[in-house]
Amino acid sequence: MSQDGGHFNAHWLSLREPADAAARSQSLVERLDAWLADRDAMCIVDLGAGHGSNLRFLGARLHGRQQWLLIDHDPELLDHAARHSPDQSADGLAVSVKCRSGDLKDLATLDLPKPDVLTASALLDLCSRQWIEMLVEHMARWRSAGLFSLNVNGQRFFIDQHGQQIVSRDDQRMAAWFNDHQCQAKGLGRALGPDAVTVLADALEQVGFEVFQESTPWHCPAGDPDRSTLAVELVNGWRQAALEIAPGHGEFIDTWHQERMDWLNRNQAGLVIGHIDLLAIPAPP
Ligand SMILES: C[S@@+](CC[C@H](N)C(=O)[O-])C[C@H]1O[C@@H](n2cnc3c(N)ncnc32)[C@H](O)[C@@H]1O
Repeated sequence: MSQDGGHFNAHWLSLREPADAAARSQSLVERLDAWLADRDAMCIVDLGAGHGSNLRFLGARLHGRQQWLLIDHDPELLDHAARHSPDQSADGLAVSVKCRSGDLKDLATLDLPKPDVLTASALLDLCSRQWIEMLVEHMARWRSAGLFSLNVNGQRFFIDQHGQQIVSRDDQRMAAWFNDHQCQAKGLGRALGPDAVTVLADALEQVGFEVFQESTPWHCPAGDPDRSTLAVELVNGWRQAALEIAPGHGEFIDTWHQERMDWLNRNQAGLVIGHIDLLAIPAPP
């Protein structure tokens, strides 16, 4: 899916941005906004910010003056983020944005300012258990809230023209290979893939955070012109991941791929990809 280890291209991030915005939890953002209400200004650190999709979604929905720090190891993506950032908060106050190119491997070496909110979208599945433990240690020390959006949960299935799940053993086999592929090392230790969000929720609860989760799947209905390119890219990426994990099953994988592309091209099927959004609020002092 336009992904090489921990590197993603701008085309893929732009393709997913409208589907992300449609899927993301509004109610968790409102809850975070309410928690932030007393502050004159707030510092928000966006980890793995990419080309700024998380900033564009949240900046215009949160109230109050915002100072964002975007971190990513891809300076070109950050450059796009800086040039396409919202200039106003929900109540018309200033949103200022700084970008820093750096590796998230060791948060301590990034010398981050103490944030009111630590956020990331579509990042956690790349991270290991050790990395998530490090993240939670920092959040507990800072007593910052955390909003982690669009974390894959391992669910991926086709739907028919009425939106009903198509149950297929072949799809389940392909999904298992895809999820195995997600659990390879992607630069931040051995990735947890779809388990990351559960590991994060447990670790946060253990140190006293209140954790809220909401299901935020991508829906690509059959024949929806706004989601057809995304659906095709998803099925192509799914094939590629399966071939890398199960190279001995190339014939099965290519037959599956051809059939599913026919479904999409004839508007016979759509696709659902499961995600979870997670909000963590620190315990009162
Ligand atoms: C799936 S993209 C999500 C980007 C963005 N948050 C969004 O929602 O569009 C994951 C991002 O994490 C960044 N990333 C992955 N591993 C990283 C690392 N070790 N250090 C810094 N950034 C990393 C990638 O460059 C990419 O921009």
